[in-house]
Amino acid sequence: MKRVLITGASSGIGEATALLFAKKGYEIVLASRSTARLDALVESLRTVGGIAHSLACDLSTPEGCERLVPEAMSLMGGIDALVNCAGATGAHSIESSTQEVQYLINLNLIAPIVLMRDAITAFKIQGHGTIVNVGSMAGEIGIRGTYSASKFGLRGITDSVRREVAGDNINVSLVVPNRVLTSMSSGRGRGLVGAEVVAQAIERGMQRTARRIVIPRSRRLQILVEAVCPWLIDLVTNTRPTRKTLSQSD
Ligand SMILES: NC(=O)c1ccc[n+]([C@@H]2O[C@H](COP(=O)([O-])OP(=O)(O)OC[C@H]3O[C@@H](n4cnc5c(N)ncnc54)[C@H](OP(=O)(O)O)[C@@H]3O)[C@@H](O)[C@H]2O)c1
Repeated sequence: MKRVLITGASSGIGEATALLFAKKGYEIVLASRSTARLDALVESLRTVGGIAHSLACDLSTPEGCERLVPEAMSLMGGIDALVNCAGATGAHSIESSTQEVQYLINLNLIAPIVLMRDAITAFKIQGHGTIVNVGSMAGEIGIRGTYSASKFGLRGITDSVRREVAGDNINVSLVVPNRVLTSMSSGRGRGLVGAEVVAQAIERGMQRTARRIVIPRSRRLQILVEAVCPWLIDLVTNTRPTRKTLSQSD
């Protein structure tokens, strides 16, 4: 049985992933700040036969990050996989406050780095392990200020770590959703995918060596255009209707 630590498990994509993993028979540690929501989810997962534990933590702080993997390991007797899903959006403008910028970088970038480091220490000893990080289209195309910067950073560290541990039987993947129907997107915008669709992509990332899984797949074209002719993206982000579409990517 796989033992998995999922951050951001109290709502949205993390919660949908926890539900899917419980049905697959994985043992799970659910982490986020809200004890009440995590405990309620643990109870409902147990009713469908899942084995789940809750761990309340604030991942915007060094203490919150550093105790998570050791505590998850002691609850499950080890760890086979880590899903870095916790995150927040904000600081979309260069005029955002230093405090807001720092909070986003701590939560969206530093926390996954610290958790990967601690999980990989355990994975190397046991000779296997899997990491799935949840990025964003805003980490492929620079459009949302510091949120974008945090997700670009997450993509960079994911690629780098994947290459660093390639010979250690440790898989590292990035799931890249566009807009998802969760509290983060407030259900605004057209064509949003459900959190369960992203959960299935995370599960695919657990099963095979996938560098990057883009949801929906059609968005890969936009990533290609950004890489080959970024001026075209500049052009469309300066065109009113298209700016609306692009700036909606979380
Ligand atoms: N929704 C979208 O359109 C979209 C698109 C692309 C990428 N994503 C990414 O998907 C991931 C999940 O987002 P979501 O859409 O599922 O949003 P969500 O429903 O708001 O979930 C965010 C999760 O992160 C946790 N969290 C927030 N601040 C935290 C903190 N300081 N410490 C620990 N946990 C914290 C929240 O739990 P607590 O409040 O209990 O702490 C919650 O479980 C994020 O990384 C986001 O960037 C979302």
